[in-house]
Amino acid sequence: MANNLTGLLRKSAVPLLALGIAAGAALIVISKGYTPGLGDLMNRSMQVQHLKLWYAGHADNWPLAAYELKKIKETVENAQSFSPEWQGRAVGEMVKSLDPELDELDRAIEAQDPAKFDAAFHSLTEACSACHAAAGQPEIKIVDPAPQGGGPFPDQDFTSGRGPQ
Ligand code: HEC
Repeated sequence: MANNLTGLLRKSAVPLLALGIAAGAALIVISKGYTPGLGDLMNRSMQVQHLKLWYAGHADNWPLAAYELKKIKETVENAQSFSPEWQGRAVGEMVKSLDPELDELDRAIEAQDPAKFDAAFHSLTEACSACHAAAGQPEIKIVDPAPQGGGPFPDQDFTSGRGPQ
């Protein structure tokens, strides 16, 4: 009986040890995994996708506009998953303020309607800045890109929040 138990333990020790090592390794991988902060998502994804959406729409490239819109929706989802709270604010809830604008853009892109697209895009831009103001960051002012360009970030007003000159 005792021998059987020792045998069983000996037999299961190796797989158990392997399991333990695998679980430990998985934990290390998870803990070392890159979790984007809200600022990263905004800077590296949201702003770029907002810009590209505008350029695609203005090039009458509706498949590309649809693609960029999908990417914005993914960024919204990522913000909700990775940053549901930001400095005590429920940003996961706040980003939902973009939903009606994103739906309107869906319809404009489907209709391939430039005027509708511009109107919906402008509402999206306003919603971006409104959320920044609500989050205590009114100096991050998003604007419709200037058609003539204007540096690498033509969808941001860099004078917003500047003190009196
Ligand atoms: C939750 C509401 C919310 C919405 C909606 C939102 N943002 Fe933001 N955004 C924030 C917050 C909060 C920050 C500051 C994050 C930080 O500093 O970590 C920010 C920061 C930024 C920044 C500055 C990043 C940097 O490093 O300079 C840009 C650019 C930006 N957002 C673009 C956009 C655009 C474009 C949209 C709309 C398509 C948008 N945001 C919609 C909350 C929002």
